[in-house]
Amino acid sequence: MSRSSKRWLSEHRKDPYVKQARQEKFRARSAYKLRQIQEKFRLLRPGDWVVDLGAAPGGWSQVAAGIVGEEGGVMAVDLLAMAPIPGVTVLEGDIMEDRCVETILAHLPKSKAQVILSDMAPSTSGIASVDHDRSAALAEAVLDLVPLLLAPEGRVALKVFQGRGVPEIQQDMGRLFRSCRVFKPAASRSRSVEIYLVGLGYGR
Ligand SMILES: C[S@@+](CC[C@H](N)C(=O)[O-])C[C@H]1O[C@@H](n2cnc3c(N)ncnc32)[C@H](O)[C@@H]1O
Repeated sequence: MSRSSKRWLSEHRKDPYVKQARQEKFRARSAYKLRQIQEKFRLLRPGDWVVDLGAAPGGWSQVAAGIVGEEGGVMAVDLLAMAPIPGVTVLEGDIMEDRCVETILAHLPKSKAQVILSDMAPSTSGIASVDHDRSAALAEAVLDLVPLLLAPEGRVALKVFQGRGVPEIQQDMGRLFRSCRVFKPAASRSRSVEIYLVGLGYGR
């Protein structure tokens, strides 16, 4: 086993969020990132419709479904297949493809979604600038979907890897939302380059 794999395994074993996720039956420790975003911004509300992009294996969808309840709904979209979750509609597809966007639209109520979540991460190359550009392209793709999928006053939380493209993404978000904030949840490892951009009040 390589040194970096050994370090990852040792960190994983000691990680309190991994233990907590196992106890609370969350599919991924990333569930706590959304919980912490929720604590800070009250992003999700009972009765909301939520589109969760890059949802597999389903930790965020589990958290979202628990908050929106039976009056709302969650649509989980991923390139990868995902085991069912009560209260969640699972769609397999690439959000870069029109066909996938059409399927999301067909499953949403006419009033659109109140929240778009994106924890999407590209497949990584190990070259920081390449990985950043791929992550930034996913973030921009999410913003392109906002007018199609999001209801007025809607909210967004999206992941992006830190790097040169972030200021432009923030500017684009600033044009769409009344407020745009940067947040690094405690559950996001300090070594990770990921940050979350949170947009509140779509249609400023
Ligand atoms: C970090 S994981 C998401 C973890 C998830 N939030 C959870 O709590 O279980 C990132 C996901 O983004 C998905 N993804 C990356 N690019 C995508 C795309 N173009 N369309 C749909 N999903 C994508 C990957 O397949 C991967 O499952």
